[in-house]
Amino acid sequence: MTSTDILFKPFETPNLTLKNRVVMAPMTRNMCPDNVPGEHVVDYYRKRAEGGVGLIITEGTHPEVNAVEGYLNVPFFHGAALDGWARVVEAVHQAGGKIAPQLWHCGGMRGSGDLKVGEGESLGHTPSGMNVPGKKNRHAMTDSEVQDAIDAFVQGVAAAKAIGFDAVELHGAHGYLLDQFFWDGTNIREDQWGGNMAHRGQFVAEIVRASRKAVGADFPIILRYSQWKQQDFTARLAESPDELEAFLTPLVDAGVDLFHCSQRRFWESEFEGSDLNLAGWTKKLTGVPTITVGSISLDKDFIPEPGEGFFSGGDIASIDKLLESLERGEFDLAAVGRALIANPDWANKVQKGGVSTLAPYEKEMLMKLV
Ligand SMILES: Cc1cc2nc3c(=O)[nH]c(=O)nc-3n(C[C@H](O)[C@H](O)[C@H](O)COP(=O)(O)O)c2cc1C
Repeated sequence: MTSTDILFKPFETPNLTLKNRVVMAPMTRNMCPDNVPGEHVVDYYRKRAEGGVGLIITEGTHPEVNAVEGYLNVPFFHGAALDGWARVVEAVHQAGGKIAPQLWHCGGMRGSGDLKVGEGESLGHTPSGMNVPGKKNRHAMTDSEVQDAIDAFVQGVAAAKAIGFDAVELHGAHGYLLDQFFWDGTNIREDQWGGNMAHRGQFVAEIVRASRKAVGADFPIILRYSQWKQQDFTARLAESPDELEAFLTPLVDAGVDLFHCSQRRFWESEFEGSDLNLAGWTKKLTGVPTITVGSISLDKDFIPEPGEGFFSGGDIASIDKLLESLERGEFDLAAVGRALIANPDWANKVQKGGVSTLAPYEKEMLMKLV
C-alpha cells in the first residue's frame, strides 16, 4: 500500500493555508425547507471538520437574483440564510476546519431539475435561450439580466468574506448557468459575452474581476469547472491543451486562485498522449493550484451512464493512483464527495488505517443528513 502521508501534508499558498489536502466536495442535500441552513446543517458540516477534512466546500447555495433556483429546499446565500451560514462557519472553525460556500445559479436547468416551473413563473435564465444545444425553450438573458447576475455573485462573494468564510467557490461546472456561458452549444450570443472560447469566459471573468474589487486581492476565489455537462456527458469545452489554455488564461488573469476540475473519474487522462487528468493539465498550463475530484475511494462514479440514475452507490476502491499523482505534484488537493457522506471521518480514518477502514457508500444515505 502506498503511504497516505502526502494527503496529510499542509497546503500553503499566499492566500490559503490548509492543514491537509482533503477537501469535501460540494453536495446539494435539499434539506433546507425554508432555504435557511438550520442546526442540522451546522452539525453535518461540524462532523466533517471534526473528521479531519482540511477544506469543506458547501453544497451549492443561491445568491439573490431572479430565477436562480432549480431544485427544492436548497439554502440561499442572502438574508436570514446568512445567519445560518455564520453558525456553520463558527462550528467548522471551532473544529479546526476551513470552509468555502459554493455559489450556484441553476441557469437553464431550472425546469429540468425537481423545481417545476409553472405558468407565470420565470423560465430558466440562459445565455441564448437554450438548456441543451439547438433547443430554444428557455429565456435568453438581456444585458441588464446578465449584469444583475454578475452583481448577485459579487454580493455573494462579499457576504462570504464578511461572515468569515475562508474562501468562496463559483460553480462553473456541470451545465449550470456559468457553464452555459462557457459552452459553445448553449452560448451563441453575439455581444461581449459570446464568441470564441476566451469571450465565452468573459461572464465568469467579469464576476471574478468585480469580486476582486469588492473583496481585495487576498480572499481566495475558487472556480469549479468541468468538460462534461449533465445535459451531455461527452461535451467538452476544450479538445486540446491549446484550447484549454485559451479558455483558462483570461480566468487566471481575472484573479482565480484555485481551479476545481470536476471529473466523474479522477484517474481518466484528459488528452491523448499524456496521463495527466483535467486538474493535472489545468495546473500545468496555468501554474495555478488545482483540486481533483471524482470517485475517490469508490469504484463507481456518481452519475453512471444515462438511465442508471444519479448519485449511485459504490464499494471502496484503492487511492494509490491518487497518492502517486499528488506525490508528483500533478495537482494539489483531492475532493471527496459520496465517501464523505458515508464516512464523516474519512480523513481521520484514511490517515490512521488506510481506505480499507472506510464504509462503502449507499445511495439511501442521502435520505438523511447525518
Ligand atoms: C448528492 C450529491 C449532490 C451534489 N451536489 C453538487 C453541488 O451542489 N455542486 C457541485 O458542484 N457538485 C455537486 N455534486 C458533485 C460532487 O461535488 C462531486 O463532484 C461528485 O459527487 C464526484 O465525487 P464523488 O465521486 O467523490 O462522489 C453532487 C454530488 C452528489 C453525490
